[in-house]
Amino acid sequence: MARVTILDKTFETSYPESQIKDAVSKVAQAINNDLKGSDPLFLCVLNGAFMFAADLMKLVNIPSKISFVKFASYEGTQSTGVVKQLIGLNEDLTGRTVVIIEDIVDTGITIEGLVKQCKDKGAADVRVATMLFKPQNCKINFKPDYVAIEIPNDFIVGYGLDYDGYGRNIPEILTLVK
Ligand code: IMP
Ligand code: MG
Repeated sequence: MARVTILDKTFETSYPESQIKDAVSKVAQAINNDLKGSDPLFLCVLNGAFMFAADLMKLVNIPSKISFVKFASYEGTQSTGVVKQLIGLNEDLTGRTVVIIEDIVDTGITIEGLVKQCKDKGAADVRVATMLFKPQNCKINFKPDYVAIEIPNDFIVGYGLDYDGYGRNIPEILTLVK
């Protein structure tokens, strides 16, 4: 895919499907090795992580469960800084290993809140697996346990990520052309 126009903006491919596939498979291998025997609960953060979670979970070969939470913090291409929780956490996490599956860790505000919620609910080990990580924009002192691809501080769409709701279905990752 070359250039794509979504609403009023133009994006171009920065990570093709083949590169995404390799990166996801490395994360799955690491999780399979690290969490063997720990019966983890995967927690997919909707909406953005749906595609990463689906691809990742097909490669996870250890006994595990998956559940979903839903947050929203973006309007257009900017984080509002306020994270709204739209679907909450209902599982019993007491003593459990939890792996949060995120599309992207940007400012880190969403993940910080969710990690805290999991710990407050008694999780014994809380890990974060993210498709993308923008270390330059991260406002908290935090490093995800599993990162498929580290990216510069640009706005991106595709592979679950959206611009005003559009572009989530694109199978590759595109960067905003400035
Ligand atoms: P946070 O700033 O780390 O709390 O990220 C919150 C959410 O913002 C992420 O889970 C994404 O859904 C969204 N987000 C962050 N950066 C981008 C981007 O470059 N494109 C699209 N959505 C993004
Ligand atoms: Mg998200």
